[in-house]
Amino acid sequence: MGKILLTGGAGYIGSHTYVELKAAGHEVVIIDNFSNARKDVIDRLAQITDSPVLVHEGDVLDKAFLATVFASHDFDAVIHFAAKKAVGESVEKPLEYFETNCTGFSTLLMAMKEAGVFRVVFSSTATVYGEPLSLPYTEDHRIAPVSPYAQSKVTCETLLKHLKEADDRWTYGVLRYFNPAGAHDSALIGEDPNDIPNNLMPYIAKVATGELPQLTVFGDDYNTPDGTGVRDYIHVVDLAQGHVQSVDKLIYDNSTHILNLGTGTGYSVFDMLRAYEKACQKPLAYTVGPRRAGDIDCFYADPASAREILGFEARRGLDDMCRTSWNWVSRLRNV
Ligand code: UFG
Repeated sequence: MGKILLTGGAGYIGSHTYVELKAAGHEVVIIDNFSNARKDVIDRLAQITDSPVLVHEGDVLDKAFLATVFASHDFDAVIHFAAKKAVGESVEKPLEYFETNCTGFSTLLMAMKEAGVFRVVFSSTATVYGEPLSLPYTEDHRIAPVSPYAQSKVTCETLLKHLKEADDRWTYGVLRYFNPAGAHDSALIGEDPNDIPNNLMPYIAKVATGELPQLTVFGDDYNTPDGTGVRDYIHVVDLAQGHVQSVDKLIYDNSTHILNLGTGTGYSVFDMLRAYEKACQKPLAYTVGPRRAGDIDCFYADPASAREILGFEARRGLDDMCRTSWNWVSRLRNV
């Protein structure tokens, strides 16, 4: 088993990955600046895994902090989640996105190199593909980032490619996520955005708890069966297990890979709304509004390469995503 550094380990995907890594027998150390995560996540991780959590509070942009962390542990690999992730915000604040996402990553890679750690799993996104030329997206689909957020992820992927060309000791896994949803079965961790959510699932969850009055469906005139946008929603625990498989591949096979993590199935906004109504057992109010700028009709993954290379299989379906999300938010808000 390996010793793994998780940057952004208190966040939504990071915290679920922590649990799965521990379940697989790995030693894990978290770093997080808690800019978009609650501190009590750490206590909850301790509760779920029934063991103390090793965490260092700090920022990936802070070289001295990283040097101290790497000097205190002998890591086999790093999984890098710590980044900004809101597409709309990135259009308003491109500098902040490049600073955190790109400079943060290169600072981390530099600290890894100095410490002699050459294995890294990188959180990427399906938005690197841009407007689909064909569906499902395969990993060799052309890359065409349209937002500063997507561009920041492409820049990091490209940096990894150059790094490996320059020094073959590097091995990396780039994981291009589709749309994460759901929460841990314990209902102790899940997604909990501070502000009004940008994404569909956390928005629906807040309508279900009564924190928001209704969902606005962003357009019902798309070229899809019911006119609303279709996406590939993947349960966050499946996604987390994909990270365990990816880091194991680096540690045991020293083999670099760039893979989609999705299910291969698309669901519309109305499919999601209906499935959530079933989970929370009440009707959820919605209204149909105009399209959101930059949205695409439909996209979903070809998951075949992840299956072939990692043995990755998304086992949890739409009902699991809605049920675990509802269990998590209703407990959190005492609904
Ligand atoms: N939608 C609504 N109302 C809302 C929010 C979303 O109708 O209030 C619709 C969107 O129009 C879209 C679908 O729900 O059709 C999903 O939207 P999300 O914002 O949840 O997800 P996106 O597919 O737009 O983007 C997400 C992440 C990105 C990531 C991308 C691909 O936000 O960070 O998936 O991985 F890059």
